[in-house]
Amino acid sequence: MGTYAVTGSASGMGKAVVDRLVSEGNVVVGIDLRDADVIADLSAPSGRSAAAAAVIELCGGVLDGAVMAAGLGPAPGRDRPRMIAEVNVLGVIELLEAWQPSLARAERAKVVVFASNATTTVPMVPKRVVRALLEGDVDRAVQRLRLLGKAAPTFAYAASKVAVSHWVRRQAVTPDWAGAGIRLNALAPGAIMTPLLEQQLATPAEARRIKAFPVPIGGFGDANQLAAWVVFMLSDAADFLCGSVVFVDGGSDAWFRATDWPRPVPARHLRRYVARMRSFRQRARSGA
Ligand code: NAI
Repeated sequence: MGTYAVTGSASGMGKAVVDRLVSEGNVVVGIDLRDADVIADLSAPSGRSAAAAAVIELCGGVLDGAVMAAGLGPAPGRDRPRMIAEVNVLGVIELLEAWQPSLARAERAKVVVFASNATTTVPMVPKRVVRALLEGDVDRAVQRLRLLGKAAPTFAYAASKVAVSHWVRRQAVTPDWAGAGIRLNALAPGAIMTPLLEQQLATPAEARRIKAFPVPIGGFGDANQLAAWVVFMLSDAADFLCGSVVFVDGGSDAWFRATDWPRPVPARHLRRYVARMRSFRQRARSGA
């Protein structure tokens, strides 16, 4: 049994994860805007730092795992791109950076970050926005997104999930995470029936777009099933899972991207590949 932090614990998949963890006898510290152990607004820097500190205090400085489920969907609105950037990206990265020492203390901690299959199924996500988000420069990301007019929330959402997926893959393999015994992975759901999706389906144009989107097995996913994936990714069975983005999306990613990945290393990346191999060996030799 362990102690887990779950953001977005009051609704949808975050709530389903909390219910499962608690039913298995774990202690859960939930973080949300309401109905949570830690009430905090992750769209504000002060909310993020207060949430990070409150969790560390409540868990006594040792966390067996964290689930980063708080998130905003691509609803219309001028402020939406900024809110998406703050909650979906900084609400993940800043909290996990603050919790890293507590996770390391548990020795076999596991972290699951909610990404989305929007990462691979939304075309032309602006790379510059993703880069700005990864650099924590929300103003620059929002400025670029504004140029996209009405499509800004859709691209903000996809870019936010690409950014956290890239962050997970980059960090997962480093001494601070893999080296500290922490398994860092992401889950990329397709359309799952939760209040977030219900809100999108309430707009007729959005509902038409969602219903027309290719899902080879049909229909929508179930929050409890996704929670079971999360709990599996938090379990000992996932000890060898590191830096993976696990797609659970009814086949949409496979439909659009069947042969895009896994992708063998292309000849033009051979130098980089050899350099990475060398740097890994050097690190292993020096014990870093
Ligand atoms: P949901 O809307 O049911 O739950 C999200 C939770 O995040 C809510 O309890 C909400 O209060 C909380 N939250 C939002 N803004 C916050 C803020 N500023 N501060 C603190 N908490 C805040 O959503 P759902 O569907 O359960 O989504 C969970 C995660 O899965 C999100 O990151 C979402 O982007 C992602 N996802 C959802 C999909 C879906 O179809 N439902 C598909 C792919 C990814």
